Amino acid sequence: MYEQIAHSLLNSILSDLKEEIRQHQLQHFYTRLGANFYAIHSLFRLLYGERDDFAQQMHRLVETMARAYIARADALKEIDLARERDHSWFLDQRWVGMALYADGFAGNLQGVAEHLDYLHELGINLVHIMPIMRCPPGSSDGGYAVCDFRDIDPRLGTLDDLARLEAQMRAQGMLLTLDVVVNHTSDQHEWAQRARQGDAICQDYYHLFPNREMPDMYEAAMPEVFPDTSPGNFTWNEEMGKWVMTVFNNYQWDLNYRNPAVFIEMLDIIFYWANRGADVLRLDAVAFLWKRPGSVCQNEREAHLILQLFKDCCQVVAPGVLFIAEAIVAPTEVVKYFGEDAINAKECEIAYNATLMALLWDAVATQRTLLLNAGIRNIPSKLERATWLNYVRCHDDIGWGFADEDIIQAGYDPRAHRSFLVDYYTGHFPASNARGQAFAFNKRTGDARISGALASLAGLEVALEANDSAAIDSAIRTIQLLHAMILSFGGIPLLFYGDALGTLNDCSYLEDADKSMDNRWMHRPRLDWERAARRRQAGTPEFRIFTALRRLIALRKEIPAFADLNNRELHALDNPALFVFSRFDPRHGSPRILVAANFSLEAQALPLAPLRQQGFFRSGNARDVSSEETLRCDGDYLNIAGHGFLWLRDA
Ligand code: GLC
Ligand code: GLC
Repeated sequence: MYEQIAHSLLNSILSDLKEEIRQHQLQHFYTRLGANFYAIHSLFRLLYGERDDFAQQMHRLVETMARAYIARADALKEIDLARERDHSWFLDQRWVGMALYADGFAGNLQGVAEHLDYLHELGINLVHIMPIMRCPPGSSDGGYAVCDFRDIDPRLGTLDDLARLEAQMRAQGMLLTLDVVVNHTSDQHEWAQRARQGDAICQDYYHLFPNREMPDMYEAAMPEVFPDTSPGNFTWNEEMGKWVMTVFNNYQWDLNYRNPAVFIEMLDIIFYWANRGADVLRLDAVAFLWKRPGSVCQNEREAHLILQLFKDCCQVVAPGVLFIAEAIVAPTEVVKYFGEDAINAKECEIAYNATLMALLWDAVATQRTLLLNAGIRNIPSKLERATWLNYVRCHDDIGWGFADEDIIQAGYDPRAHRSFLVDYYTGHFPASNARGQAFAFNKRTGDARISGALASLAGLEVALEANDSAAIDSAIRTIQLLHAMILSFGGIPLLFYGDALGTLNDCSYLEDADKSMDNRWMHRPRLDWERAARRRQAGTPEFRIFTALRRLIALRKEIPAFADLNNRELHALDNPALFVFSRFDPRHGSPRILVAANFSLEAQALPLAPLRQQGFFRSGNARDVSSEETLRCDGDYLNIAGHGFLWLRDA
């Protein structure tokens, strides 16, 4: 887009660039900057246009981009060019991810490098290493309270270790995902320390208030993220004599994006990790980036403008790098983090599909797919060059964030239904064999979320204790079913380390004073490699789960219809226990796949007539790709075992 004001500003900025910058080979930088400058300028002006130093800040922004571009290694620039040519590369079904803690998985970064073969064996080729930046000793919210954004926590290794791991992963065709915690810093970060010493420049990096007037105004509308362990959204700091906005834990200070210096610093940190070879950056807590008194301070329009600006700037410097939005918000809000327009308002290419995750757990608890079907149907469609991160468990709790209207549409009362789910997953509901714990119980609203390892929530822990082989079978089937869903739904499946081995709750965190208050640690285990070796020992749960998932992953990669190309159709069938959708292949026209899942523990009949009407099973037979069995489909029904699923292709 050519617009005179922006263009003449760009010319003046470029001609002012220092000689040390201009002497570099900047051709691609210039072409990308030219293409994006109108958007960058407009967004920056929307956010900061009122300031006297706007032109100066704009100048700093461009200079920051130029320096980051110059620092980017040639090999990464080559990858950028290749990904520009094949810009939908990440929608392919061949990507399968896993999130892991370097220490929990293998001690440290070096350990991760030594265990890449395990990931290969399973078929993982995208690895999200949970936060590795330097944190203070003591509580650090699992690495999300960063005190140095440009260094690695010494407990996990060094920048050299990361470089070695990155090179090894790249050579093996694996993508590296790292976190950038853009919403807050640790109270031990240098900016916070200087703020406490009275440095006005650093005080402006945070939201600080001399008295309760503004905090009270904010609190009237803001929810609490950790109501039991960190109530309220502000923390009094004696040294400054000020209230600090701390939406998460009291040691996590929210950054003030009304200050353009904060935006530029954080953008530069994004570039820093992009230049260290991250293929994907997970932007943490993006819904919270902008605070407005009187609002819930989530999903504000400016939060989206900031993300658009991050994206536009990153496309100039490192266009091959993707963003993941971690926005665990209502379904209608989540899709906005992809951006609302592919050219003019793009944000993150990938977003956590927390809606699907919670709906799957709902279907397991109720043995009904009423809410699952309603909830999926009501997720608005996303941009084309965008994809979900589909997961069953992650390092966080499970929140029941589906829309109230969907719960009502499914025939339940929202409040009663959410409290049923908490009862169910904490094992308080009579028929439940789940063993989770309530997380972040809010006395005021009665809300609670759930912590617990996948296998324990699926009943494996109770079944193993009782030595009940039927119950063990059933839990293993549940684990397979849930993974079959994220592998076929459309999007990048993200497994959680430990889950492919049926890892149970780990209560050792209770002995660690820095963790004992936060029961999310019960599902962030230290992987036991001796137990992991049992994945080779037939008959063990580790073997059964691992081999089944490894197979499904390998199969997924061979099914082009599982790529995420806006190619899913839901099928409403007259059976409240089934979740049925089909996937087709718009690129090569390879066979459609009908995915049929039974969330009831009893066998169910899949009605065939309505599916035949939609063109399935014309030959009278279907092949279940997942079991490699051919099934006769000329009758009225097909049987699906309790917690079973089918991946059907016409035979
Ligand atoms: C994100 C992380 C979570 C953390 C929070 C605050 O939601 O996933 O673990 O507690 O941000 O950083
Ligand atoms: C984020 C999410 C919330 C999640 C929390 C970590 O704030 O919005 O759902 O549970 O981080 O616990």
